Amino acid sequence: MDPLAFITALARDAGALLRERLDEPRAIAEKHRHDLVTDADRASEALIVARIRDAFPRAAILGEEGGTYGGHGDERFVVDPLDGTTNYAHRYPLFCVSIAYERAGAVEAGVVFAPALGELYAARRGGGTTCNGAPVRVSPIAAVSNALVCTGFNPAAYARNGLYFAHVSDRAQGVRRDGSAALDLAFVAAGRYDAFWEWDLKPWDVAAGALLIEEAGGRAGAIGGGPLDIAAGSILASNGAVHDEMGRLLGEV
Ligand code: IPD
Ligand code: CA
Ligand code: CA
Repeated sequence: MDPLAFITALARDAGALLRERLDEPRAIAEKHRHDLVTDADRASEALIVARIRDAFPRAAILGEEGGTYGGHGDERFVVDPLDGTTNYAHRYPLFCVSIAYERAGAVEAGVVFAPALGELYAARRGGGTTCNGAPVRVSPIAAVSNALVCTGFNPAAYARNGLYFAHVSDRAQGVRRDGSAALDLAFVAAGRYDAFWEWDLKPWDVAAGALLIEEAGGRAGAIGGGPLDIAAGSILASNGAVHDEMGRLLGEV
């Protein structure tokens, strides 16, 4: 089975589940302070993990809500069953399902589906990025002074992020904090945002989104320079043209 076709159908089904439950009463628990998990996160992950186990029984799985399997061989699925849980809990429509397919440690296909927006972003390595089947590209903006930039805050690091937020806000046309890292990355791929940065993320937040950006002509790396390591937590992603300037700005704080 083609992995991209598989994760595309899977993300659509998990997203439909999230959409159906959006207006229902919700069981919300706090994993840590400000870190929510709902019944919908768990139901989405259960659906995704069961389908992967059925179709790719040898593949490893890394899922945020505990759906982790060792696997046999070199394939792995990296799953955020609901990215933007706090938004979801408040019925704010910026949330998504993010699924990446890795072979031999490299992300080969990625999908981000935002059911409340009806937008499905997909990429295959070497094959470009699409939104609902139509090709998308990063923006041509070449200076941060003309850029719309997005960031995200880990709940444990508000104070530090405040300084960066203020510094970039002083230079960019605007800075947003949307609350769904995977979708923020998809928006860079689609040319809505020109750059995105965040620390302390997890592999499931960035694995699919980083491929969307690279395949849309942009760049994803670590804050402070060097290649992206999805296990390391920090990401600076951009249209490519503002990347070095964004890196310098963050380095000034
Ligand atoms: C969170 C979102 C948020 C980011 C947090 C993530 P979750 O993921 O992506 O935008 O700032 O760091 O943990 O918990 O909603 O899946
Ligand atoms: Ca997440
Ligand atoms: Ca999540």
